[in-house]
Amino acid sequence: MLERGHPVWAEIDLGAIRHNIGELAKAAPGAEVMGVVKGFGYGHGNIASAEAMLDGGAARLGVARVAEALHLREAGIGAPIHVFTEPPPEAAGLMLELDLVPAVYTQAFASALSGAACAAGATVPVHLKLDTGMHRVGVMTEDVPEVLSELRSLPGIEIEGVWSHLATADVPGHPFTHKQLELFSELVGKIERWGIEPRFKHLANSAATLSVPESHFDIVRCGIAAYGLWPGRGFGPLADLRPAMALKARVNMVKALPRGEGLSYGLKYELDHTAGVVTIPAGYADGYDRRLSGRGDVLIGGKRYGVSGAVCMDQFMVDVGHDEVEAGATATLLGRDGGEHVTAEELAGHIGTINYEVTTRVPSRVPRLYLNRR
Ligand SMILES: Cc1ncc(COP(=O)(O)O)c(C=O)c1O
Repeated sequence: MLERGHPVWAEIDLGAIRHNIGELAKAAPGAEVMGVVKGFGYGHGNIASAEAMLDGGAARLGVARVAEALHLREAGIGAPIHVFTEPPPEAAGLMLELDLVPAVYTQAFASALSGAACAAGATVPVHLKLDTGMHRVGVMTEDVPEVLSELRSLPGIEIEGVWSHLATADVPGHPFTHKQLELFSELVGKIERWGIEPRFKHLANSAATLSVPESHFDIVRCGIAAYGLWPGRGFGPLADLRPAMALKARVNMVKALPRGEGLSYGLKYELDHTAGVVTIPAGYADGYDRRLSGRGDVLIGGKRYGVSGAVCMDQFMVDVGHDEVEAGATATLLGRDGGEHVTAEELAGHIGTINYEVTTRVPSRVPRLYLNRR
């Protein structure tokens, strides 16, 4: 196996990503699925994830930055790529060259796009982003008429889409989601009455795709669920999602230590028995958070063991008691081993974050081993 040469690696099941996209498409019949691959594909690898999503039935991709889109284009990916936030106006020309679908919400950026489009003798399809309450980016409700009339007056710009983003869809039944949905529908209605008929309206993220059918419109933008993780609590039975990432390491040093010895920086873990102690060659530089010191569990041979003492940058230790563990054994830091499963939610709970951050923080020094490539 390839992983033999790596002390730590992330296994990415591309078959799971394809399957999850199929589940999301089933949840939103009639809508196109956009696979969100920003943040290095939530840590799973942007190019392989994008390809698996497209193979699984996604029609388009979404990223946060032009550089992320460039990376996908350089890999030969030709599908429509949406860029969720406006870059500095200087990037307008490159967006055209790369045939990207820009989000637009400021006049400065719209003018830059228009200038670039005219220079290229092209028309750029933009998606007008509305702020329906999250207050991150987007046109405020009261500014919509003015921004629209400015956009209409700019040559080389076609309003292909109108969209917004939900702030609370991760909490099923949250009343604010319905407030945003109502405002979005009202604004879309007004825009259509003003004579603009955008081909695409979109609002739903994974959570809304799974739980708010009225939010599906023409495109659903799915990230976390495509990687097989739930967007929050209470979504459990709504789809058959399969987590795509596992984080594994190979047990490095094995030693027997007497009672009374301390482990790792600060010697905070003190052995109250003679024990086998193994060193796992993964640490916070691999996305294995230091706050897992004394809290996290790893799986070795299908059994749970606690992280014993401080997680270092590249290594941590585990007290395996009297169990026989050999150097070279596989330790699962995230994922399944036998009947046990360390989930991204479990790790997130220990360190006070969400599953999104757990996978996204696995850095590039950790090799990704792709399983079930087609
Ligand atoms: C604008 C936008 N749409 C869709 C998504 C996908 O969200 P999720 O991963 O919850 O499906 C994101 C991710 O944060 C986003 O920023």
